[in-house]
Amino acid sequence: MNACIRAVVRTAVYHGIEVYGIMRGYSGMIKGEFVKLDSASVANTVQRGGTILKSARSQKFMTKEGRQQAFDQLVNHGIEGLVAIGGNGTFTGATIFEREFGIPTVGAPGTIDNDLFGTDYTIGYDTAVNTALEAIDKIRDTADSHDRCFFIEVMGRDSGYIAIPCAIGGGAEIVMVPETQMSEEAVIETLRNSWRRSKTSFIVVVAEGEKEGNVTHVAARVKEAIPELDARVTIIGHVQRGGAPTASDRLLASQIGIAAVEGLMNGMRNVMAGIIDRKLVYTPFEDTIYKKKMLSQSFMRMVEILSV
Ligand code: F6P
Repeated sequence: MNACIRAVVRTAVYHGIEVYGIMRGYSGMIKGEFVKLDSASVANTVQRGGTILKSARSQKFMTKEGRQQAFDQLVNHGIEGLVAIGGNGTFTGATIFEREFGIPTVGAPGTIDNDLFGTDYTIGYDTAVNTALEAIDKIRDTADSHDRCFFIEVMGRDSGYIAIPCAIGGGAEIVMVPETQMSEEAVIETLRNSWRRSKTSFIVVVAEGEKEGNVTHVAARVKEAIPELDARVTIIGHVQRGGAPTASDRLLASQIGIAAVEGLMNGMRNVMAGIIDRKLVYTPFEDTIYKKKMLSQSFMRMVEILSV
């Protein structure tokens, strides 16, 4: 996100536009937490994880009263357009806000989950995948040396986008993602067959999904069904949301940041800047909110083929 903020600020400065950062998203907008930014304020940030502007959820922005306060703050600071970095919730808020008060917003896709329609990749996704993969490689050392079966939970509340490259790149036997809902019986069957074929160590990548405790539950069921398998659980967790961004993420964030500001300058509103097939595209917020980005079934097949 910092790489994107930096690009927004520097593009604005480049074009002679004044720019403010709003602390903690909509929550800071309501409270008037605005900081004037210039080129120097974003120096030494492109390589930093997290966001210098911080992040928060705002219940108050969901109310008309909260949005009125936010609008008043924008007027007081002479703000004429917004760049909002976030996902579904952020863009839903921006759409309502524009409808009520006419403030144009261009969005930047900022979520590690990569589940946003309108862009091939979201900002933070590549870094999260690489972090998770590094952890999986390390876990594999124990799995292999001690003949164990590891159930590894990666992030992705409603989506398997993080889990898939982790499974393919991490050499997993099985990947469990919310989109396909593989049954516990199928997991047991696959592991039993591999065990019979004399495989001695296994990696099962599980996307966290909606159901908390899912990974522990599946591992327990497998232990029950195949007691000779030494099954363990590792939840990689929030380590996936931090750290220095990868080169791809820095590039994407910079492209999007520039596109967001130039989009606003060209009169765009209620759209998200994204990259599809290496080309810059602006997608209406409505599509990013309501259309679902589909996970390709061919990825599932790849995991099956490569774990034979
Ligand atoms: O939406 C991104 C995400 O990282 C999900 O993958 C995860 O479920 C969620 O955020 C975690 O959010 P929180 O830190 O608020 O628990």
